[in-house]
Amino acid sequence: MTDTLTIRRPDDWHVHLRDGDILRGVAPYTARQFARAIVMPNLSPPVTDRHRAADYRARIMAAVPESMAFTPLMTCYLTDDTDPADVAEGFANGVFTAAKLYPANATTNSAHGVTDVANIMPVLERMAEIGMVLCVHGEVTDAHVDVFDREKEFIDRTLALLVERLPQLKVVFEHITTSDAVDFVDASGPQVAATVTPQHLWINRNAMLVGGIRPHAYCLPVAKREEHRLALRRAVTSGSAKYFLGTDSAPHDRAAKESACGCAGIFNAPHALESYATVFDQEGALEHFEAFASENGPRFYGLPLNEGTVTLERAEVQVVDTIDAAGTPVVPFHAGETIGWRFVG
Ligand code: DOR
Ligand code: ZN
Repeated sequence: MTDTLTIRRPDDWHVHLRDGDILRGVAPYTARQFARAIVMPNLSPPVTDRHRAADYRARIMAAVPESMAFTPLMTCYLTDDTDPADVAEGFANGVFTAAKLYPANATTNSAHGVTDVANIMPVLERMAEIGMVLCVHGEVTDAHVDVFDREKEFIDRTLALLVERLPQLKVVFEHITTSDAVDFVDASGPQVAATVTPQHLWINRNAMLVGGIRPHAYCLPVAKREEHRLALRRAVTSGSAKYFLGTDSAPHDRAAKESACGCAGIFNAPHALESYATVFDQEGALEHFEAFASENGPRFYGLPLNEGTVTLERAEVQVVDTIDAAGTPVVPFHAGETIGWRFVG
């Protein structure tokens, strides 16, 4: 049995680092494990142009100890009014790595998102030309659609048409939660890939709703039925280059989660790599872990693989109940549980 695992230094292809004090509290957890991270732009106000992105990047760099050698990769929050020239210039200057499509009102701070993909076609056409990745929050927002069906509906109503219309556009279908998404990604060309979070590999909707409502298991897209969780486990451990690590770590103040109208988001950064490694181990697929964590993402984005390695060892890791994120109490994913792998460094 393998008891230590040394892999090329990994990246997180989807994370929420927030801003202000909490940024200083949470960013080091990500920087400690990952060389780079695709940083989500859903601040308030959102990161909608290259100037805001450059400023935010500087705040992130200032929040992470220099010894951690962490590179934030910035994303442009697309709105109905996004200027294709600004996006292209930000990409050419190395400020933007990708752009993010939030359907308006799909999730936290997405009110300024895109109301109809038709409105951003000039931006998407430009991105396809210059090889810039589109990150997609794939859920419809139609009030008539059940929350558990919103990802599948998004594929049928929007994503399939978009991929057909712009076959050159590189699309990351983010934090997928259904077998429908797996089927779509598998059936698409190499320009369509997906990230999968730790939580969607660990929990189904029963874990959130049976025996009491567990707000810390609530995120968007919401966890689905068990059959979907198993399909996600098969996809990430299959060895397919289309799947890569994206935690969607999304910290909220404990009180904002434990509320009559609790926020969506799971703070998984503290034990992210250990959580994924435990899943690959449970599935007997540790041989595919390095590609998922450290190779498939940069290859898809057209970025160099990281130098250096990190090591994990088989060990019982006890996860604390609450973390003090520079003054904000946040409950981490796996709080009070034990995970089977420990990040050594
Ligand atoms: O659960 C989520 N939390 N899903 C998202 O899409 C946004 C995120 C957040 O920013 O809190
Ligand atoms: Zn997210």
